[in-house]
Amino acid sequence: MKIAIIGTGNVGSALGKGWAGKGHTILFGTRQPESEKVQKLLAEVGDGGTAVSIPDAIQQANIIVLATPWNVVGQVIQSVTDWQGKIVIDATNPIAPGLQLAVGHTTSAAEQLAAYLPGAHVVKAFNTTGAENMSDPLYEGDPITMFICGDDEQAKATVTELAEALGFDVADVGGLEMARLIEPMALVWINLAIKQGLGRNIAFKLVHR
Ligand SMILES: NC(=O)c1ccc[n+]([C@@H]2O[C@H](COP(=O)([O-])OP(=O)(O)OC[C@H]3O[C@@H](n4cnc5c(N)ncnc54)[C@H](OP(=O)(O)O)[C@@H]3O)[C@@H](O)[C@H]2O)c1
Repeated sequence: MKIAIIGTGNVGSALGKGWAGKGHTILFGTRQPESEKVQKLLAEVGDGGTAVSIPDAIQQANIIVLATPWNVVGQVIQSVTDWQGKIVIDATNPIAPGLQLAVGHTTSAAEQLAAYLPGAHVVKAFNTTGAENMSDPLYEGDPITMFICGDDEQAKATVTELAEALGFDVADVGGLEMARLIEPMALVWINLAIKQGLGRNIAFKLVHR
């Protein structure tokens, strides 16, 4: 698949390297395709990766991952007008100063995003665990869980395939309004990892019996 990843930070790099390693084509959408940081990333990604401007990446792919700070998503999406049929994977977390949720209860970042992108299929995913876990989702050989939600079944099937390719077990929590629950889960992870001092080698796993 051809996947545009907007943002070349912790999350964008981890996902891009992982998917390129599985044979997918990665178009990084970045403010500075020629920068030393981006060129170093491309060298690590190998043949499957290129870097272009943000609008070029969005226009050239049908799967777009938003991996920027939440407060710049408005700027990023304004750079392209036609989102018809695109799968938009929202990995952002709406975090306000002090590691607080900036939106919640009656809406979510993912739902606000979908309202701005008519015709796009927004799927919330890759927000409930640290970037290190996206590079390596196996704990003693067992996959950790990636919680996803969205309103389009086909888009969720594609995201499930992509998450499983990285090694995740996938739990589909339901329609996009479930992002109201999945986004606060990120704050649970952040509080455990950072405020409670457990460190970043922790993850959520859904168990069955
Ligand atoms: N870090 C984690 O473990 C983690 C886990 C789950 C979810 N998240 C969420 O995922 C998102 C990305 O997190 P991250 O840790 O990868 O952040 P990060 O390392 O700071 O990287 C964010 C990237 O976004 C791009 N960016 C920054 N400002 C921008 C602007 N004004 N316009 C366009 N692009 C801009 C930059 O890429 P360029 O310089 O290439 O343009 C930057 O490298 C956040 O919403 C975060 O809450 C993070």
